[in-house]
Amino acid sequence: MSFRVCDHALARHKLTTLRRVETDSPTFRRVIGELGLILAMEALRDLPEADRAIDTPLTAMQAPCLAAPVPCIVAVLRAGLGLTEGARLLLPEAPIGHVGLVRDEHTLQASRYLLRLPPDIAARGALVMDPMLATGGSAIQAVTALKEAGARDIRFACVVAAPEGVARFAAAHPDVPVVAAALDERLDERGYIVPGLGDAGDRCFGTA
Ligand code: URA
Repeated sequence: MSFRVCDHALARHKLTTLRRVETDSPTFRRVIGELGLILAMEALRDLPEADRAIDTPLTAMQAPCLAAPVPCIVAVLRAGLGLTEGARLLLPEAPIGHVGLVRDEHTLQASRYLLRLPPDIAARGALVMDPMLATGGSAIQAVTALKEAGARDIRFACVVAAPEGVARFAAAHPDVPVVAAALDERLDERGYIVPGLGDAGDRCFGTA
């Protein structure tokens, strides 16, 4: 599996805004969307392309376009919704899938309560977005669900990753590349990433 941290000053700057405890929910929601656009750009940088015949105002030429069909963008609910807002701006023609996972606060195990994907998912790639790659449980389950549905060329983008989550995810899905805005130090005893940014879903939707 390839894991890489997005090497971009804007990604680092926006992540710092998300980390600050005083950042309010409307600002958090806006900035995580902006970061979602940057991360989608990074995760999709090598999408398949095909040349097409086009006309510029001056001449005809062969010009590169994305090969069809474009990948599906998949939000892992709830916090992934904030990230996919930005990715949708980048790739407006992409269908949006949803995977609903809820984490038991005691066992830290994620269980799935929803899966909605486009019917032609087997013909597309997929960009799965979830802000926190903590224990890796949710990310692994989300990608497993996509594979079971037939998706191929799956990529995963998150805001903050913990070393534990990266290792577990790589063992489960070595074929799925991961892009993050940062690799943090560790998980605490409640499964939160440290230094992290807190509960991404609560901060995004004002439910803390
Ligand atoms: N989920 C979050 O929202 N934050 C963490 O730090 C870990 C999991």
